[in-house]
Amino acid sequence: MSISMDLIFQSLSLLLFILFATSTYFLFNHKNYSNSKNLPPGSAGWPIIGETIEFLYETPENFINHRTKKYSSQVFMTNIFRRPTAIFSGPAGSKFISSNDQKLLKVWYPPSQRSLFQMNRPNPTPTPTPSPSQPSPATQPQPKTLTSASGFLRPEARYVAKFDSFTKSFLRSYLEAKQEVVEVYPFAKTFTLTLACNYFMGLEDSERAENLVGKFDDLAMGIHSMDLNFPGTIFHRASKAAAELRKELGIFIEEKRVKMSSNNGVVKEDLLSQLIAGNQSGRKFTPPEKIVETMLGLLTASYSSAATVITFMVKHIGERPDIYQKILSEQSEIWSTREGSDEEIGWEHIYRMKYTWAVACETMRLVAPLQGAFREAITDFTFAGFTIPKGCKIYWAVNMTNKNPEYFPDPKRFDPSRFEGEHGGSHPPYSFIPFGGGPRMCTGRDYARLVILTFIHNLVNKFKCQVLYPSEKILSSLMMPTPAQGLPVRLHPLP
Ligand code: HEM
Repeated sequence: MSISMDLIFQSLSLLLFILFATSTYFLFNHKNYSNSKNLPPGSAGWPIIGETIEFLYETPENFINHRTKKYSSQVFMTNIFRRPTAIFSGPAGSKFISSNDQKLLKVWYPPSQRSLFQMNRPNPTPTPTPSPSQPSPATQPQPKTLTSASGFLRPEARYVAKFDSFTKSFLRSYLEAKQEVVEVYPFAKTFTLTLACNYFMGLEDSERAENLVGKFDDLAMGIHSMDLNFPGTIFHRASKAAAELRKELGIFIEEKRVKMSSNNGVVKEDLLSQLIAGNQSGRKFTPPEKIVETMLGLLTASYSSAATVITFMVKHIGERPDIYQKILSEQSEIWSTREGSDEEIGWEHIYRMKYTWAVACETMRLVAPLQGAFREAITDFTFAGFTIPKGCKIYWAVNMTNKNPEYFPDPKRFDPSRFEGEHGGSHPPYSFIPFGGGPRMCTGRDYARLVILTFIHNLVNKFKCQVLYPSEKILSSLMMPTPAQGLPVRLHPLP
């Protein structure tokens, strides 16, 4: 009796679910978003998941281009991460978002990101000596925490030489001593993470930093995943990695605190030492949990984006002899001014790397390390003749904006000359936005420039790179552009 009741109940539930799913599908798809409320046109996709799968797993070109052609060139509606979302693409949208950020729009993060970085959690309290610069609300999104590190995100001149010598010895020990075929993507990630751990936390044991790369990779993969937390999902793996990283960082921070206490108040220059010293002196208290979160966010933001640029730059340098020759001539000229004279590299050298930076910009134009950013409408507003209602989520498609054929003719062609010239090229404002724009523009852009250019400077002066699989596929699922085989290159040491 009870078995048959169960069966009837299960069948009824299934039937109800199918009815709900199909009716919602037809309701959403047939009643597209362009209705009496004057919303931008678009489709809400499947019930509950909307178009999240397509958004995360199709290439941005396919997802966004296809819909901008079908619905509207500047803005269209979709449903991703379980929220109705207006997708803005193009210079007009970029200008609108940059100029109205924090007026009509506020930052928003997908549920996966909020959960992994514990953005919904109240701030750890009590705070014995609250600093006036610390925002008081109970929830404090991660990147705001990161901006408190902004003094460290434009490294002072004296650090430039340190970055250079770190890079030189890293390349020497990892490339000269090891193998001649290297997978550039994992290698670049190891480099950027080891450097970031050294610079922000004073972690000198490179092997210890290296061991964190896999966990940071798992965490980064989960940032734009579906927040389904059960074994086997990307989000579950990311949550586990985040917990392990918090533990590892906590142990390291405690070790450092003990060392500093027994070191008669001598404080090193890295950000972590400064935060711990603030606590020890009572000058500026940062709860230990917040120090862990700051380090976790900073290391995540700093390692993968710079590594992506380095990887795809090496691809172009290795594949295009014309680009290689121009970069080599610029870099060897700078190298020759330092060799023998013991001159240390400084910002002035970095600013002389104009062609190399043009190659970096063209790389970021074609493969945006950060594919886009989210916002939420604080109030109803109008854009491109459509109404964006209060509460609607907005996705700012950085990657597609950078490929607008109106400003970048033949947009798929790799051509660094687009960024050569007096002010780094003649494209109009808001048409090239790899670092975003407006009040939330990337605070790590100077740091990223320094890391990327220092790496390329030291690499091309020592090695010629031969890309082994020029037609290697580039995957772009979960908003992370990745060479399918890690970009193996053969290194030929230069005499
Ligand atoms: C080539 C490398 C990088 C690219 C292309 C990049 C791109 C971006 C973009 C597009 C944004 C804006 C997000 C938004 O509008 O919501 C952003 C924000 C941010 N980035 Fe980067 N980034 C890079 C490297 C870095 C590095 C190395 C760090 C740290 C060391 C960093 C730290 C940050 C922070 C803290 C924010 C948030 C700023 C705020 O909300 O006030 N980024 N980045």
